[in-house]
Amino acid sequence: MLSMPLRRLRQARRDGARAVRRTGIGKWSEPEFVRLVRFGVRPDASVIAYPMVPYPELSDDEARAIYAYLRTVPPIRNAVQRPVATAIAGADAGRAAYYKYGCNGCHGDSGVGVYDLRKGATDFATDEELIAYIRHPEIRKPGVKMPTWDGVIAEADYAPLASHVRALGAHR
Ligand code: HEC
Repeated sequence: MLSMPLRRLRQARRDGARAVRRTGIGKWSEPEFVRLVRFGVRPDASVIAYPMVPYPELSDDEARAIYAYLRTVPPIRNAVQRPVATAIAGADAGRAAYYKYGCNGCHGDSGVGVYDLRKGATDFATDEELIAYIRHPEIRKPGVKMPTWDGVIAEADYAPLASHVRALGAHR
């Protein structure tokens, strides 16, 4: 028969183990964490919002090292209030999608930002090609610091997004 304190200790450990899985990055795999930190996309395919920004300049190894470190920090239960993506009053669908998916995190408000996307307007003759690029930029340039958007962006948002890229490209 277990003494009470020992039983309580075991229960506390089980609670702790559950907290590890339930809170923060507890359930996240290493690749999921790397994708979030570098490209701003969560395991459920939702995107992060300011003030958290993507860090595409980190290498996979650097992001993995941060993951390894965070896994050594004892977990706590903590309800996180999620910031919501900037809603732009009166925005057209393209502009709204641009902010909804956090394109501004790397391309700024004007399309320039840290990486200038305005060339995309002329690099791709048709919207089909532009959209194909946005879905899978890693096909054109392996190791590119642009996220793979396929499976993240809703199908209905691609066309307005492509026209917004063209609108930004028109201001060069
Ligand atoms: C984590 C950073 C990041 C985010 C977020 C991001 N991009 Fe990019 N994007 C890049 C980088 C880096 C490049 C330059 C790629 C290269 O080196 O060729 C780029 C290039 C582009 C280009 C230009 C391609 C060309 O011909 O030069 C387009 C268009 C583009 N992005 C669209 C988008 C759209 C639309 C979104 C939002 C759905 C988005 N990007 C979000 C990093 C990002």
